[in-house]
Amino acid sequence: MSVIRFENVFKSFGDQVVLRDFNMEIRAGETKVILGGGGSGKTTILKMVLGLVRPDSGRVYIEERDITNLSETELNPIRRRIGMVFQEGALFDSLTVGENVAYRMREDKNHSEKEIDQTVRKLLGFVGLEHAIDKFPSELSGGMVRRAGIARALSENPSILLYDEPTAGLDPITSRSICELVIELRDLEGVASLFVTHDLRSATTLATEFAEIQPDGEIEFKRGTDLVCLVNTRFLMLKDGTVFFEGNDEALKNVKDEYVQEFLS
Ligand SMILES: Nc1ncnc2c1ncn2[C@@H]1O[C@H](COP(=O)(O)OP(=O)(O)O)[C@@H](O)[C@H]1O
Ligand SMILES: [Mg+2]
Repeated sequence: MSVIRFENVFKSFGDQVVLRDFNMEIRAGETKVILGGGGSGKTTILKMVLGLVRPDSGRVYIEERDITNLSETELNPIRRRIGMVFQEGALFDSLTVGENVAYRMREDKNHSEKEIDQTVRKLLGFVGLEHAIDKFPSELSGGMVRRAGIARALSENPSILLYDEPTAGLDPITSRSICELVIELRDLEGVASLFVTHDLRSATTLATEFAEIQPDGEIEFKRGTDLVCLVNTRFLMLKDGTVFFEGNDEALKNVKDEYVQEFLS
């Protein structure tokens, strides 16, 4: 099933054309890594998935439903199916980590406090932040803020996750821990994701590794070029508002084009 589909999308802001005849499809359990320079339209694409920005022409489908012209009220249930992880974590400063993760569930009013508490603890356990439940965002490191942001994005069990440069400004080890969470969600939970990044190291991790549960219950990350077919991640490179390249890690390395080589170097 196609989870996200963009069909011939055009978008301009004033006389600046940002997307021109942009097409993209993400299937269930797939992660699409969107690469592109600053200002190339990456965040605009994520906002279109949420229905926060509308195309000038063309269509956007979420789980096969055309959302292009839906009203705000009609968009609400669709937005609830989508978790968004922002670059800076975007937590509420005046709320604890636990309250941040609980926020959407409380707002929803369909969950008991007991259920919320259980879910918050489970999600903080998943991102390795059980101990930080009562801390405020200002007391956390950059990596912990991003992980808390991921826990919050997961609070309503979304089938789609959007990540906007979630590893920007993080050191390689912390970036890797974020990528491992993204891979686990892809391979063990079947979540479809759009991962926007500048960070080629993280993009390569996502495109070359997969997660597997071992007999002892531990999760192991495996890689290898002969295993690439098992890795459900493709790159999409944006240039001049349209898809300049689409394919796996190996194909990307083999593109001889100057723009791609510059990006990779
Ligand atoms: N609401 C807006 N109004 C005017 N210009 C915008 C708006 N949103 C984005 N833009 C412009 O569109 C271009 C693409 O923006 P964006 O999608 O944020 O790029 P990226 O995330 O790839 O850096 C940028 O030049 C930006 O200034
Ligand atoms: Mg952006």
